[in-house]
Amino acid sequence: MNMHAAASAQAHRLDHRTSAFARDVVEGLTKHPKRLSPKYFYDAAGSELFEQITLLPEYYPTRTELGILRDRAKEIASLIPPGAALVEFGAGSTTKVRLLLDQCSFSAYVPVDISGDFLNAQARMLAADFPALGVYPVTADFTASFALPAAVDAMPKVGFFPGSTLGNFEPHEACAFLRSARDILGPGAQMIIGVDLEKDERALYDAYNDAAGVTARFNLNVLVRINQELGGNLDLSAFTHRAIYNRERHRIEMHLISRKAQTVRILGRSFAFRAGESIHTENSYKYSLARFTALARGSGWTPRASWTDADAMFSVHALVAAE
Ligand code: AVJ
Repeated sequence: MNMHAAASAQAHRLDHRTSAFARDVVEGLTKHPKRLSPKYFYDAAGSELFEQITLLPEYYPTRTELGILRDRAKEIASLIPPGAALVEFGAGSTTKVRLLLDQCSFSAYVPVDISGDFLNAQARMLAADFPALGVYPVTADFTASFALPAAVDAMPKVGFFPGSTLGNFEPHEACAFLRSARDILGPGAQMIIGVDLEKDERALYDAYNDAAGVTARFNLNVLVRINQELGGNLDLSAFTHRAIYNRERHRIEMHLISRKAQTVRILGRSFAFRAGESIHTENSYKYSLARFTALARGSGWTPRASWTDADAMFSVHALVAAE
């Protein structure tokens, strides 16, 4: 591709992404109650804020899951046949996958993520550190169907879905995702999945209402993006972060609350807010061990092993594709 073609392909891709964001924002803010998808938290600034969240004293999931993977790596390794391909759904920090790659003799690593640039940079670093490993990044939306690279066709498959990312899905979406993962990975596949657990409301509340206010900035970042990318005129100080635990629905809900009656402009349109009106920005579902294993069974998987930390804050599950 010549320079001009490369530049215009880049511009086209940006346009395409912006228009999906634009369409979803207009649609979401027209709904009652107003909604925005949590997938829009993660531009470069939002991903950096999320990395900061994972280090907060109140945010137990990341460090607890890492502890479980570290403590149980040998047991996990014993379940996995040598020469398998590890397929990671979503590609964030490589810390967790490195724990598995260190302990198990995988032949290939297939990270799947919608953000190709980040994915390829991450894949290059891993390939340098694990020279014997075939690294085949796939740029795709892992909630839809995608093809595995032909190079891993003959290998046993192990899916990896850490971080309780499953918690962002509505229960029916979680079921659809697990079914689709089973179809993509094929018969005989296994899956290692991290799932946050229901617990004392205080611990849950604090994890999403940290004293340093990082989660609030993460939540507000979606409004920053609307201003930057869609020419919005939102006053960030006129919205406030709210996270609550909805016990009946087993989920943390994050909202942005309008502090006053106001009208904002985005893409030449007006959106009116009542004082106290919410934009619902995220659900983070929490599971009991029983509810998660029932979900897995109902989605084409047989639970093989489950591990939790000593305080039962977080769980990691090994599943095998049902016949
Ligand atoms: C990345 C979806 C697992 O739900 O805990 C962290 C995102 N939101 N703090 C979670 C998040 C607010 C996180 N997940």
